[in-house]
Amino acid sequence: MAVTDFDRRMMAAAIRYSYRHLGRTGTNPSVSTLIVQTAGDVPVIVGRGLTALGGRPHAETQAIAEAGDLARGATAYVSLEPCAHHGSTPPCAEGLIRAGIARVVSGTTDPDPRVSGRGYAMLRDAGVVVEEDVLADQARRALAGYLTRRVANRPHISLKLALSRDAKIGRRGAGQVAITGAQSGAMTHIARAASDAILVGIGTVLEDNPSLTCRLPGLENRSPIRVVLDRTLRLPMDSALVRSAVDVPLIVATTTDPDDERYRQLLGAGCRMMACDENAGKIALPEMMDDLAGQGVSTVIVEGGAAVASSFLEAGLVDRVDLYEGPVTIGPDGVDAPVTPARMAKDFTLAGTSQFGDDLLRIYERTG
Ligand SMILES: NC(=O)c1ccc[n+]([C@@H]2O[C@H](COP(=O)([O-])OP(=O)(O)OC[C@H]3O[C@@H](n4cnc5c(N)ncnc54)[C@H](OP(=O)(O)O)[C@@H]3O)[C@@H](O)[C@H]2O)c1
Repeated sequence: MAVTDFDRRMMAAAIRYSYRHLGRTGTNPSVSTLIVQTAGDVPVIVGRGLTALGGRPHAETQAIAEAGDLARGATAYVSLEPCAHHGSTPPCAEGLIRAGIARVVSGTTDPDPRVSGRGYAMLRDAGVVVEEDVLADQARRALAGYLTRRVANRPHISLKLALSRDAKIGRRGAGQVAITGAQSGAMTHIARAASDAILVGIGTVLEDNPSLTCRLPGLENRSPIRVVLDRTLRLPMDSALVRSAVDVPLIVATTTDPDDERYRQLLGAGCRMMACDENAGKIALPEMMDDLAGQGVSTVIVEGGAAVASSFLEAGLVDRVDLYEGPVTIGPDGVDAPVTPARMAKDFTLAGTSQFGDDLLRIYERTG
């Protein structure tokens, strides 16, 4: 049986649904399952499942439970290949077989060596029809953090910058310069809510004194871990970051010795100190990203500033760039944007644009 337009519609719905728990499923991916049963000529969603908060139970288990007997002979739409190994729960592929699912339509293959291809094989061996890679690009985008961490052993890294019309990102000594409007601000906070970590350099902290929390009504408890790159611990004790460190985790990435007085003060204020390697007078980013992945961080948003953004780009560590362009002009004394639409590295392609009020968002994805 070939993949139909209806299959693609259902897969698109499943992928959209999977975004609901993004950033909230621990080291497990946020996966979704929709079970569709056809009664007469009418297809009906009889079971829905989403990786639960913290990562267990898996999406398939919940969808099967909701569908009950109606799962028999139905099609299951799964955004990721069902697992095939016995972990703390039995394999989801086995659960689908036992429930009598006749056909599985999958978004993308799981690169986990315990699963990869085996989930599909287990299903086919039991007579279940399997369609692979349906809307695979969209499924991979939704699972980017999990896939990058599995394949590259580091988090998926998005660089987010707000650019003025004259390609500046701020003005020295002026604090936080308003470049974009309220709608772009809300989008930024939505992205924070779905991310595991948000990272800036100490230059941005000293200039802007940001909180880096998610402050959208109803999503206040969805702030990611904040990370600041601060080799020599210039982070002020009265900064918004340190003052909120007890409530929202703050990692201070540093090369400073733990015996240092400021190190102890920051630790006492609730900061998590992260010992980093140094490379050419800067924090060594690849090693640091490895360490973050080891702590279960799958997605990082780099929110500046200029020096940190350049370092991540030069190290080849950026997977996606979100450039918001606002209507303001900053002038020649502004801080030059490290990257602009006209100066985008050739291994990035424009993946989409959106308009938010007066601001234009351009999203670039790494293709190379
Ligand atoms: N429009 C926007 O989207 C946006 C966003 C954020 C910031 N900004 C603006 O950007 C400006 C600040 O940019 P900035 O370049 O001065 O500061 P920055 O990039 O935020 O921080 C740079 C500092 O981070 C530390 N660092 C540690 N490891 C590093 C590494 N591997 N690579 C680079 N830096 C590393 C260094 O200080 P140590 O050596 O002391 O550790 C370095 O001086 C402000 O004007 C701010 O308003 C704009």
